[in-house]
Amino acid sequence: MMSSKWTPQRLNALKGVTRISALTAYDYSIARLVDQAGMQVVLVGDSLAMTMLGYDDTLPVTMEEMLHHTRAVSRGVKEAMVVADMPFMSYQVSDDTAVENAFRFMKDAGADAVKIEGGAHRCDLVVRLAENGIPVMGHLGLLPQNVKAMGGYKVQARNEDDADALLADAIALQDAGVFALVLEGIPSEIGARVTEALSIPTIGIGAGPGCDGQILVIHDLLGMFPDLAPKFVKQYAQLGVQISDALTTYRKEVEGGQFPSDEQSY
Ligand code: KIV
Repeated sequence: MMSSKWTPQRLNALKGVTRISALTAYDYSIARLVDQAGMQVVLVGDSLAMTMLGYDDTLPVTMEEMLHHTRAVSRGVKEAMVVADMPFMSYQVSDDTAVENAFRFMKDAGADAVKIEGGAHRCDLVVRLAENGIPVMGHLGLLPQNVKAMGGYKVQARNEDDADALLADAIALQDAGVFALVLEGIPSEIGARVTEALSIPTIGIGAGPGCDGQILVIHDLLGMFPDLAPKFVKQYAQLGVQISDALTTYRKEVEGGQFPSDEQSY
């Protein structure tokens, strides 16, 4: 049977033709909806540290937690490419551990690819992963796993030297074998410049409209995570408010004896 799964090759063929839509998902039910809406890429982002687990940043999330959520997402997705975000400390200590952890995402959790943060210093690892049949998505610009070193979530590549360095990193990663590159938190003109210079697709988040695709954290898009509201987010729904209203109505109806009514009783 022909698979309709999105692959690195199919994504690459979209560059310059159609924009790529990507979104995070962390559980089975939402992953199904994201897949059915036609997204080409579903990222099990380490942002789940904050959105699902309540941590202040992405650093504490573990391999076991990421595997658990990736398994659930893989069960919900039929067509999109499932990309598992390699968490902090799962790929930085040694390339051997990194390859082993990436294998776990593919073998135990059904991921189609992994994502790692960082520039040219990750190239040896990208080559090893690619040689072992593991598609790798890169991630440049604002790197959430570097939040402590960066002193907060700050727009990157604002001056000419930093922009040139980012472009050099992007080309190095492409040459090492990443099949796509997330560009986060950089000025729009730099997003466009990097996109034009590469033959692989760029997927932007706060990197302007010139990227080959866009990705958002699903809680931001649905208006469910008011703790952080970056400028680049567009809320397509206000589910936080709707959920809150529904829950309050339910509580009041239980207290007032309106629920369950005869209709909901056997
Ligand atoms: O973890 C995540 O959700 C991400 C996206 C913001 C790209 O890395």
